[in-house]
Order: sequence, then C-alpha cells, then structure tokens
Amino acid sequence: MDTKELFEKHGQGHVFKYWDELGSKEQASLLEQAGEIDLGELDELVDTFVKGSEAKEVVDFANLKPAPYEKIPEDLSEDSSWQEAKTKGESALRDGKVAAFTVAGGQGTRLGYNGPKGTFPISPIKSKTLFQLFAEKVGAARVLYGAEIPWFIMTSHVNHDATVSFFEENAYFGLAEGSVKFFKQGRMAAVDFDGKIILEGKGTIAMSPDGHGGALRALERSGAIAEMKSKGIEILSYFQVDNPLVQVIDPYFIGFHIKSGSAMSSKMLPKAYEAEKLGHFCELDGKQIVVEYSDMPEELTALRDEEGKLKFIAGSIAIHIMDVAFIDKIASAESSVQLPFHKAVKKIACLNEGGETVKPSDANGIKFEMFVFDALPFADRALVMETTRLNDFSPVKNAEGVDSPESSRADQQKLYANWLASKGVELEVDESGVPVKNIEIAASFAYSSETFDAKWAESTPDVDIAGEIYIS
Ligand code: UTP
Repeated sequence: MDTKELFEKHGQGHVFKYWDELGSKEQASLLEQAGEIDLGELDELVDTFVKGSEAKEVVDFANLKPAPYEKIPEDLSEDSSWQEAKTKGESALRDGKVAAFTVAGGQGTRLGYNGPKGTFPISPIKSKTLFQLFAEKVGAARVLYGAEIPWFIMTSHVNHDATVSFFEENAYFGLAEGSVKFFKQGRMAAVDFDGKIILEGKGTIAMSPDGHGGALRALERSGAIAEMKSKGIEILSYFQVDNPLVQVIDPYFIGFHIKSGSAMSSKMLPKAYEAEKLGHFCELDGKQIVVEYSDMPEELTALRDEEGKLKFIAGSIAIHIMDVAFIDKIASAESSVQLPFHKAVKKIACLNEGGETVKPSDANGIKFEMFVFDALPFADRALVMETTRLNDFSPVKNAEGVDSPESSRADQQKLYANWLASKGVELEVDESGVPVKNIEIAASFAYSSETFDAKWAESTPDVDIAGEIYIS
C-alpha cells in the first residue's frame, strides 16, 4: 500500500488534497513528513484525546503518598551523608562517566522570542545568552574535574539549524567543537477537533516537537546513547534550556543518585505556597510519579502535617540525573515501554478554504507531547534531592511577570550578591532583595557557592561596590 492509500485508510486522505498542485520537491517533502507519522499511534491518540472514547488514566488519589526526599542539612559541610554523596559524585566526574544534557527543542511560544530560546540574552551585565551561560558552566566543570564532560543538546526540526549555526558563529564558546553534540527530537502531527491532521501549507503538515519526554527515544534513535556507551558515559545531567541558574553539574546530586542506586533522580523545591504551579513528586504503589498541579485535587494540595507544613511539598523543577543504561532499557527498539502522550490545545497555523495559510485567533487544534518525568515510574529506584531556588531555579518562560527575563535577571543578581555577602561584601539592595547596582559573576570564576568559596580563597578579586560589578 502506498503512503497516500495508507492515509486514506486511516481517514487522513485530505493530507494529499493538494498533491497535484505541488512541485516534485514539495511532494517529496510532504511524503517525508507523512512517513514520520505513526498512523496507528495517532489513531489511538485521537480516540483517547479527541473522541474521548477512552478515559484518561486517573491517579488513585486515595493511595497517593508524598515522595520522600533528601533534605538539605543545616550544616552541609558537616553532614556525613551529603559529604559522602559529594565524594562519589566528584569521583564519577573525574572518571569521565558524566555528560551534560540540555533539552532545547521547545518552541518557547510564551516568551515570544524569534529564535531558539538558548540564544536569548539573559545575563544581567554582559547579556550572555542562555547557551553561553551553560557553556561556561560546562567549561568550568571540565577544568575542575579534569574530564571531558561532553555536552549533548537536543534540538527540534524547528530550531536545529539555527542552534548549530549559533554555536559555530560563537566558536562553541571556547568548548572543543566535537565535545558539543546536537541531535534532533522527533515530531508529532497536530490534529483538529475532529481528529483530522492539520495542513499548515499545501505541502506541509502541521508538526511540532514531541515534548521533552521525546528526549528518551531521540537519544536512542540518534545514536547518542550508543556513542555515550562507547565513551564510558554512564550518567546524564539533564536540564532545560530556559533555566540560567541551573548548576549544570552538581556533584552532590550525582553522588546521591549513585549512592542510592537510583536509575533516574530529580531535584525538588519545597513549594512556596499551596497553589504554586509545580508538579508534585509522589509515590503510588511503590512507584514514583509526578502529579501535575492541575491534576492534583485541591484537598491534597492543601494537606498539612502537624507542624503546618505542606504534605505534598516536593515541587518538580525539571532537573534530573539519568542512567544511560536506564534510558537504553526503556527507549530501545525492543522495549515495550511507551511514555504516555499529553494533549495541549493550541492555536495552530492552518489552511483556510482558499488554501492560504492563516494564523487562527482561537485554539483550533491539539498537539501531543511526552513529558520526561513520566519515565520515573519505570525506574526501580528514583531519588529526590532538595535544592533551593537561589542556587538552581529561575526559568525564563514568559515575556513579562513571573518567570520572565526580568525576574530571572533579578534572581541571578540575588545569587551573586549572596555569594559576596558570605564574604562580608554587602551590596545595597532594593525592597525585594535585588542589588541596586548590577552585578554578574562569570562561571569561569564560580558557578556554585562552593566553587565561589574556593576561588575567593585562591584569588580574592577587588570589588568596587560603588559601581557595576563584573567578576570573571
Ligand atoms: P516548555 O514546557 O516550557 O515548553 O519546555 P516550550 O516549548 O519551551 O515553551 P512554550 O510552552 O511554547 O512557551 C521546557 C523545556 O523542555 C524543552 C524546552 O526547550 C525547554 O527546555 N522542550 C519542550 C523540548 O526540548 N522539546 C519539546 O518538544 C518541548
């Protein structure tokens, strides 16, 4: 059966409606896009999410428990468990077992920036881009541990070329060219509210990246996993492209992952308030799951212990450590594991009656995405470790307000001011604790409080608190 017949059989024959109007190049491109679509999978998604014939799997909330986590001790330097973790993490790093991994395939629609999000300028003084900030942290960790620490970056069909060009134009920010590796994630067709595939152009199917959960199969299909195995890489330090504060390489986190025998570990933040929009780390029937804030019944979100602390307090911030062997096991071609898809109702560019591409003013269709945390229940052991906002989390999601460039720049400055304050250098701050004069500390100087302490002891810089402060 040829592709067109197959699409007709699945009720999607309209995808080829304009076939005869297309040139041979456009026809080839349409066939290529069509060939990427697993029609059986799409039929199931349409049944589940569009026609609603199958109910969405409901969590058994009666048996849901908060997931336990490693709490930050009062005195970290004196805590034997945390120090043991750090030693283990450092030795895995020195032994070359760790790679950094960024998921950067998203479309960043909320930010509304024209270009890959990683190319967005975000540092307070030098306006370094997200990619540059991560590159500098990776570079600093390479020096510190004397190891290659390759950096894998997942892109999507939408931003792959622009991302690679950006690194080329910037000479990989000083990292050796072959030590930064890019691969594309998969994509999924979008459908309208009748379950019909949406055409974005006469020869173009509306397709979007398959979610950060698509990372697992993309790592496998792109050959990245095979490459890691051949280089002796056993552990991936996973983070998202939108979070300039992420430590990128954290020996404590890597060490806890190793010492607990976890296959996939996560950092958590204690939720600041009940309704905060973070997923919750939970346990159900001995498995760890993340329950999204929108799926959690209000009475559970509000539950408190005897001391008045939220019971479901562990918020998910999309920072993970993953075993390469675990990804290989669940994402290989032989695996029966399939991460579930989630639906997102969106405005999707489509053709009007006259065959012209238009941007709808209202939501007109559905995109399907996988989420990386849905891999957690497949891990035999899954560890959660506490971190702080200051040291790890201030994402750039929106153009303004919460989680915006402005809030993220302010948080970066708070962190740098906090490091200086620990050395007795007090900066003038405004009512929300943000330094009045701009401050920025390059990762080549420090990228965590501990690297800051070490560098400060080794070579204390002159800091002129009267003006803008840039330390590198
Ligand atoms: P978000 O969930 O914030 O989505 O991605 P987004 O596409 O970047 O932004 P919006 O929702 O359109 O505004 C969180 C992280 O997951 C990556 C993003 O690049 C970001 O690092 N991601 C998301 C992917 O790599 N692929 C995807 O398909 C989706």
